[in-house]
Amino acid sequence: MKAYFGRRYMLSASHRLHVDAMSDEENRAAYGKCNNPHGHGHNYTIEVLVGGAVDPETGMVMNLTDLDAVVQTKVVERFDHMNLNHDPMFLNQVPTTENLCKEVFRIVSGELPAGMLEYVRVEETENNFFECYAA
Ligand code: NI
Repeated sequence: MKAYFGRRYMLSASHRLHVDAMSDEENRAAYGKCNNPHGHGHNYTIEVLVGGAVDPETGMVMNLTDLDAVVQTKVVERFDHMNLNHDPMFLNQVPTTENLCKEVFRIVSGELPAGMLEYVRVEETENNFFECYAA
């Protein structure tokens, strides 16, 4: 049987949705006010779910301190209070929350035992959320 453990993290960051290869008009049409040259910020909630067998000795799927060590150092410290457009990860891709979610999944899954990361969910606003799954 597989058990699941989820944990939430918060970070605040700014971004501007703009693709250099598109004209200003195309950018405005695609992104609306999110294309504002001055950017805007979000308080993102990042939810991470890991799954696996419960360790018979510890009684845990994964120790939360181990998960925190990964997510805090590799994700929260990297992006919190940053302009996402300036992160090398977003130099060649627009920092939509779909792309942020995808990259967080890639970063975290690369640090965990293979196959443990089930999904990453990023809440951008009260009404918008994005999810990336292992398969
Ligand atoms: Ni935004």
